[in-house]
Amino acid sequence: MGGGERERILTGIRPTGPLHLGHYAGALENWLRLQREYDCHFLIADYQVSDYADDFARVRESVWEVALDWLAVGLDPEESCFVIESLVPEHAELGAWLSWFLPLGMLQRNPTLKAELAEFGKRSAPVAFFTYPVMQAVNILMPRAHLVPVGEDQMPHIEMTRELARRFNRQFREVFPEPRGLVGRVPRLVGLDGRAKMSKSLGNAIDLGDDADTVARKVRGMFTDPTRLRATDPGHVEGNPVFLYHDAFNPDADEVADLKERYAKGRVGDVEVKEKLTRALNALLDPMRERRAHHEAHMDGVRDALEAGTARARARARETMALVREALEVDYLAGPPPARGRA
Ligand code: TRP
Repeated sequence: MGGGERERILTGIRPTGPLHLGHYAGALENWLRLQREYDCHFLIADYQVSDYADDFARVRESVWEVALDWLAVGLDPEESCFVIESLVPEHAELGAWLSWFLPLGMLQRNPTLKAELAEFGKRSAPVAFFTYPVMQAVNILMPRAHLVPVGEDQMPHIEMTRELARRFNRQFREVFPEPRGLVGRVPRLVGLDGRAKMSKSLGNAIDLGDDADTVARKVRGMFTDPTRLRATDPGHVEGNPVFLYHDAFNPDADEVADLKERYAKGRVGDVEVKEKLTRALNALLDPMRERRAHHEAHMDGVRDALEAGTARARARARETMALVREALEVDYLAGPPPARGRA
């Protein structure tokens, strides 16, 4: 792993199913770029699955799916730690201490939490739902991370984490760096249907594991400019999902500029625009498909990556917990309190 000097990254994903292009553009692409520069901890946040009670078996499947997706995009488990959250029990321990320092009001003002809470509708949300931002802060603080590359919606959680670190350091002693958030090139990718966000649950996603034909079919079904009836009608480029995807994933800037110009003038049909997008997407996904096929044939290697990364993260977690216990003076067995020690 080398480089005790490198700054550390911690970032995570919930194991709720296969990863898609939104994850890639919003986060994974950054992780890939940063993995050689930083000492990276990539965490599978299995404490954070909101519908836990529903389907533990599904979560188990997802843990493996996420690990496989990570290997497929090119994250390197030799270089970075792949960590399973609940197999580092120190997370629960640090969570129990740190939740004392997070005022409830701060949670209640967190806009991401508010939005997610609304999704429960009339159902009563589980208690763990309210504490997950604490656990997320714990995830970040545990390896004493400096940088957290995430999707835009995660920034309120990072802000809370910074506040928690400041409070702890001020009140006890300097244990935690104040972590910075870093949002990806495409903070939020629209869905295939033009809805604000690509998401598995909305059924508007292209998964990183989709094969070439599936990608072609999904792109053919994408929403475009609803006001345009014929290829000869001038079309709207702005806000058009197909062009948002071209901007996000087609590296051939000249081709994109040419398509946009012709589209606006009514000189190109959706079919051509979509075919070119399909080609760009498949060029991006092809190397991932190859790596995925390799790792799928060697699932013991996936297991090794998870096991080794989790063990490394756990060693670091023990170090952090020793610092925390000392700072809080809850390292009781280190010796009797000073007054009695001298008696
Ligand atoms: N809450 C994040 C998400 O939904 C996942 C996550 C869990 C995370 N722990 C983290 C992200 C720690 C960054 C750092 O995407």
